[in-house]
Amino acid sequence: MNLTATESTHLDLLTPRGPADSADPCQTLLALGEEAMAQRQYERAYDLFSSAARFDAGAHRFRREINRAVRALVPRWHFGMMNDAERNQAYAKAIQQVVGEDHLVLDIGTGAGLLSLLAARSGASRVVTCEAVDVVASTAREIVKQNGYADVVTVVSSLSTDLRVGVDLPRRADVLVTEIFDCALLGEFVVPALAHARRELLTPDAVILPRSGRLFAQFVESPELHSLNHVGEVDGFDFRPFASLTSLEYFSTTLSNYRHRPLTEPVEIFRFDFAQDIEPTTHHMDITPRESGSAHAVVMWFELDLAEGVTLSNSPSDTGSHWKQAIQTLPEPWRLEKDSPLGFRAAHDGQRVLVGPAHAVPHTRVR
Ligand SMILES: C[S@@+](CC[C@H](N)C(=O)[O-])C[C@H]1O[C@@H](n2cnc3c(N)ncnc32)[C@H](O)[C@@H]1O
Repeated sequence: MNLTATESTHLDLLTPRGPADSADPCQTLLALGEEAMAQRQYERAYDLFSSAARFDAGAHRFRREINRAVRALVPRWHFGMMNDAERNQAYAKAIQQVVGEDHLVLDIGTGAGLLSLLAARSGASRVVTCEAVDVVASTAREIVKQNGYADVVTVVSSLSTDLRVGVDLPRRADVLVTEIFDCALLGEFVVPALAHARRELLTPDAVILPRSGRLFAQFVESPELHSLNHVGEVDGFDFRPFASLTSLEYFSTTLSNYRHRPLTEPVEIFRFDFAQDIEPTTHHMDITPRESGSAHAVVMWFELDLAEGVTLSNSPSDTGSHWKQAIQTLPEPWRLEKDSPLGFRAAHDGQRVLVGPAHAVPHTRVR
């Protein structure tokens, strides 16, 4: 761990030097860790708490503190994701189809290392993988070693956009595997990560897995979904000013947990080819409602084409998927009439997606 000058001084002052000095360096590290937590410097807090534990023979004492930092650094969805058999099998099948001997594979977003291990098992001569969160990267390194692939898989603790050929990768990679997708595909910055990788880290004819993805939208009537993001009167009090704090963008939740009535068929709003640049786009689309009613929300989900014949989805009917659906509530319920075509807009800026009546969705960019 690298201590700041102030932290080292604190520690020097407090390190016991003889029987007369009862100061406890662990307490100092603990206090510095707390300070880092308060400043939301969770990686630093993790390092400080871990050092305190190393200092102390009864390391056990600091497990809870370390875990507080871990909880801030490592979202719970990692576990649901790793246990999502449908996702894992689809990636395993696609990787087996695409990765061969002599391939140098780049895996963006190591997590626990599953995709890298699958690539190594499929015969890749070398796998380089990067992970933005240090504690996740070091844990993945341990997992790779324990599974006997340390000579094939190198885990780099870094954002993919900081990787360099000749430093982190011996040469440009032949295959890119990645799973940095949220419930509406683009929310985890996959577009800039892929653009950078294609430009700086991959051979011109590299295989990208997944190769493409599609995003679907469906308007639903559901006061229950609307109430997750809107408020009016409560117990005789007017809470409408709180409307300024609602989310204008989608959030992730499980559609089937809320009573809802689909008013339209699902419609494909975007198609992404991950081998090409993905530019901000606005589509003007027409749809004919199959039911009359008030649309309170748009439900979105994706289909990812991992390789030939291997597709992965978080549609409302894919109940085994750890991904939930992307729900965007409409500011006001939108009246739809059965069999009366109406126009709507769908826009994305390479990260965020907005869908709704034309007046509610900016013309060209979400930004
Ligand atoms: C959804 S998890 C997938 C983990 C693993 N690849 C798997 O499929 O089991 C994505 C991981 O990628 C990391 N990540 C996301 N974008 C990244 C980037 N551009 N560079 C490095 N790590 C990234 C996140 O911190 C997270 O641990």
